[in-house]
Order: sequence, then C-alpha cells, then structure tokens
Amino acid sequence: MRSPVVVLGRFAFKFARDARGRASNLYEAKLYRSANVTRRALLCPVLWVSRNGFVQIMRAAKPLAKMMSYDQYVDVVDAWDYMPGEDSCPFEPKASDWGWLDGRMVALDYSTPAWESDEPAAT
Ligand SMILES: Nc1ncnc2c1ncn2[C@@H]1O[C@H](COP(=O)(O)OP(=O)(O)OP(=O)(O)O)[C@@H](O)[C@H]1O
Ligand SMILES: [Mg+2]
Repeated sequence: MRSPVVVLGRFAFKFARDARGRASNLYEAKLYRSANVTRRALLCPVLWVSRNGFVQIMRAAKPLAKMMSYDQYVDVVDAWDYMPGEDSCPFEPKASDWGWLDGRMVALDYSTPAWESDEPAAT
C-alpha cells in the first residue's frame, strides 16, 4: 500500500498508493498522536502527515535482522495493554514491521486496524 518506503537520512517517507495506503498513513499519525507515554515507546514516531494521507513522514529506524522471538512479541503486546472497545492491538511480529530507534525496538507498521474490517480491496 505504501511500498517502497523512502528512507532519506533520519526520515522515512510513506507515499500512499491507494485508499488503504492513505487510511494507513492517517491511522498511524492519529494513533501516535493519541497514544500515552507507554504506548508511544513502542511506536516509531510519526513526524508529519498530509491532510489527505498521501504522504507521511516517520523517523527512520534500522530494520530488524530477524523476526523477534515469541517472548519479545508477548512483551510488546502486553506493554500495549489493549483495552476492550479499542481497535485491536496494531502489531504483527514479522521482522519487516519492526526496527531499532534510539536503542528501542519500535513498530514501523502499525496500521493494520485501519483497514482490516474493510471488504477485500477491488484493486
Ligand atoms: N520508519 C521507518 N524506518 C525504516 N524503514 C521503514 C520505516 N517504516 C517502514 N519501513 C520499511 O518499509 C516497509 C513498508 O512500510 P509499511 O509496512 O509501513 O508499509 P505498508 O504499506 O504496510 O507496506 P507493505 O505492504 O510492504 O508492508 C516496512 O516493512 C519497513 O521495512
Ligand atoms: Mg506493512
């Protein structure tokens, strides 16, 4: 939806290819903005998003070399502390969704709840 993400120096640019990409960009920006301190520590910071969601800028993180362990995944889901009534926990364990930033492991893609309840995309 937003690949390839363009990394330039300290910034990562996500350009939406379609409506889901735009929804994903807006979703991550909103989730980061509204998250408490504990949750923010798990999210790669969104620095800016355009009003329509076409472009989003994140801090650039260093991708994980391999998938996190089951225990690490349990820890991040636990730290997220999902509350009933909220969107589902936004993380998946796959390596490409996580990176290192300032010594922390942070989620790079936390947009799944933005479109998981949609009908399958026509395109
Ligand atoms: N802030 C970032 N810093 C470094 N790399 C990133 C960052 N954000 C995303 N990436 C890389 O770009 C890939 C695609 O980004 P992301 O998963 O957020 O978009 P997507 O629309 O879900 O695309 P895909 O379908 O390929 O997963 C990520 O899997 C990750 O490897
Ligand atoms: Mg992704």
